[in-house]
Amino acid sequence: MSTRIPDSAPSSFEVHVLPDAAALAEAGAREFARAAIEAIDGQGVFRVVLAGGSTPRALYARLTRASRRGSIRWDHLRFFFGDERCVSPDHEQSNYRMAREALLEPLKIPARHVLRMKGEEEPARAARAYEEAIRRQFSGRPARFDLVLLGLGEDGHTASLFPSTEALAERRRLVAANYVPKFSEWRLTLTFRALNAARRVIFLVSGPQKAAAAARILKKRRGYQDLPASAVFPRRGTFLWLLDEAAASRM
Ligand code: 6PG
Repeated sequence: MSTRIPDSAPSSFEVHVLPDAAALAEAGAREFARAAIEAIDGQGVFRVVLAGGSTPRALYARLTRASRRGSIRWDHLRFFFGDERCVSPDHEQSNYRMAREALLEPLKIPARHVLRMKGEEEPARAARAYEEAIRRQFSGRPARFDLVLLGLGEDGHTASLFPSTEALAERRRLVAANYVPKFSEWRLTLTFRALNAARRVIFLVSGPQKAAAAARILKKRRGYQDLPASAVFPRRGTFLWLLDEAAASRM
């Protein structure tokens, strides 16, 4: 059972609070399945952007459970990534590796249906290549993902759009190579242009350490615009924040 928090934002903006991380994962899996079935019935394909980090792992695992596996025609899905660390695909820090282990391999998703950000390549070249791969997937039409899953960092970052980094200002490209001083490393990330064109965006936020950032953004408290996740708002899409009670504890 989720609690809907009334919000002053347009009606497509929803915030659901779930009792705990397990309920959050289940709610996320339910939303994923609903969006996939709707897109496949409507257009024959579901193009989804997977989130990195650790929170989505439980959601991905629930999608592979027999009880849900049969409800989605997996061969009609095309998988993309919101961001990637600049490491090899087998590196323990790789977002692709996490998704491969938790979702793609258990469901036997063919490699040709997965567009991986090539973190092992030179960042600027990898970003350009990914952008070209996205444009090919949309046959030159504007890239509009059916669903984008996102996480939230304690500093208010999302994907690899970190505070005070150059990719925040990118308005033309869909993919950027972004140097992150706090980690002294490069990342690959979708830009706000790509994220905000989506038909549906879902944030998955779990744990007390995210509570301050989530509350600042969702309640538009002083300085919220300094948090990159506050700039995610699908222009012509629907928007859902899923939080567990710990992450919503400062609302
Ligand atoms: C990454 C993610 C990042 C993540 C948040 C939350 O590459 O790290 O894309 O944006 O979603 O940092 O991470 P957790 O889910 O691990 O808290």
